[in-house]
Amino acid sequence: MSVVDVAAEADIPDNGTLKVTIGDTELCLAKSDGTVFAVHNTCTHAMERMSGGWVEGGRIECPRHGAAFCLRTGEALTPPATTPLPTYTVQVRDGRVFVDPTPSHPHPLLERNEYGAARG
Ligand code: FES
Repeated sequence: MSVVDVAAEADIPDNGTLKVTIGDTELCLAKSDGTVFAVHNTCTHAMERMSGGWVEGGRIECPRHGAAFCLRTGEALTPPATTPLPTYTVQVRDGRVFVDPTPSHPHPLLERNEYGAARG
C-alpha cells in the first residue's frame, strides 16, 4: 500500500474537518473523538463538499441537506443520501496524516460523470 502525506494531524480540529487533495481528488479528513478518518469530499446525494459538514460520534453530516454518513464505513445513515461515501485508509505517524489514495469504491456520481458530464 502506498500512502500520501496529506496533512499535519494538528491541523484537523477535534470533531471537525480539513479538506485535502491528492492529485485531482478532494478528500475530507475528519477527526471524531481523536480518531482521524478520510472520506471523499463530495456528498453522494447532490455533490456538496463534505468538508463543510459537522462531525460527531463517528459520523459526518452534509451541510446542504443533512444526510449523515459513517466515517468508518462511508455508509449513508440518514436520508436524503442513499449510497455510501468512498472511504480511504488513514495512518497517523509522528503527527502527520497519511492516506492510501485507493478509495473503498468508486464515487457513484463522479463515476457517472466520467462519461460526459462535468466532474464535481
Ligand atoms: S448534498 Fe449532501 S445531503 Fe444533499
